[in-house]
Amino acid sequence: MTVEFQEMVSLFKKQLELCKLKQSETMAVLTSGEIRADYAKAFLTAASEIGANAFELKLPPAKQGASGSFGITPLTDNRVAVECLKKADLVIDLVLLLFSKEQLELQDAGVRILLVVEPFDVIKRMFPKESDKERVLYATQLLRNAKELRFTNKAGSDVTYQLGQYPILTEYGFADEPGRWDHLPSCFSAATSNDCGVDGVVVLDKGDIFFPFNRYFQDQVKLTIKGGFVTGIEGGFDAMLMRDYIESFNDPRAYAISHIGWGLNERAQWHSLAFDDQVFGMDGRAFYGNVLFSLGPNSELGGNNDTPCHLDLPMKNCTLYLDGKLIVKDGDIVIDEMKAAKPQLA
Ligand SMILES: [Fe+2]
Repeated sequence: MTVEFQEMVSLFKKQLELCKLKQSETMAVLTSGEIRADYAKAFLTAASEIGANAFELKLPPAKQGASGSFGITPLTDNRVAVECLKKADLVIDLVLLLFSKEQLELQDAGVRILLVVEPFDVIKRMFPKESDKERVLYATQLLRNAKELRFTNKAGSDVTYQLGQYPILTEYGFADEPGRWDHLPSCFSAATSNDCGVDGVVVLDKGDIFFPFNRYFQDQVKLTIKGGFVTGIEGGFDAMLMRDYIESFNDPRAYAISHIGWGLNERAQWHSLAFDDQVFGMDGRAFYGNVLFSLGPNSELGGNNDTPCHLDLPMKNCTLYLDGKLIVKDGDIVIDEMKAAKPQLA
């Protein structure tokens, strides 16, 4: 074993412990081709060290449908594989099942699912702690109890969400409950508005992040929002890019406002995308004190908008209120229960 592989096995073993994998349980690693073969091998080794049953299910690549690849995964139309994974207690997803009906089917069957697609250095740096779960659950509770969320920034944002209709998304980086899906690494909580319940203006500032393009905004983009939908996109090059992308779906539901929340992972780095843009982007999404603003579907949270057009737009230095109570001030968490642990002095 190389030193790096050993390090991977020991970190993944910690992850399986966070996921409460027991000796009596079975872990499956879902793979396709040779992608992330090192992760698959390290997870199998780690599961064996715990004494659990483990297997790898390697499938051919997803068949690309005529209407694009959204929700089409290597599991699509492969019933035997789906039934096989249902027998596992924990599935390590190395192929990105997110937004697929097969993932929901596995969750409904009680399978815990952990998505692992980020580069190893990102996983290592942002690796979850038990205390992350408490802080994320605290945020979840705040969102669950709130009727109204408002956020502003110095670029001119001032937007209000009506809340209460839908459940809250809770991502703390490990799948430790039956049917739970999570993402390694993560650490945030998010809500989605009541139907048609978002109004105001959002001004994305220079330096905010534009997923799925994996780039920083180069100039400001002003979005006018009425009744839960974007009605105007103004600005320069980035606004043109955003308009062009959303229009390409030819779907009015693509203009809807999606999930909203704030990041809590103090190990996330805003600048990491400048080093490497071939990432999923959990640094920006889970960044401590960000506001993760997004456009598109709400089906992940129980709504009926399943448009394939989804933009995650992490914003820095915002101020966020729940029912008028200050939660994030200029990009800093002000509630003690959610603050990052102070680094220990030597
Ligand atoms: Fe999203």
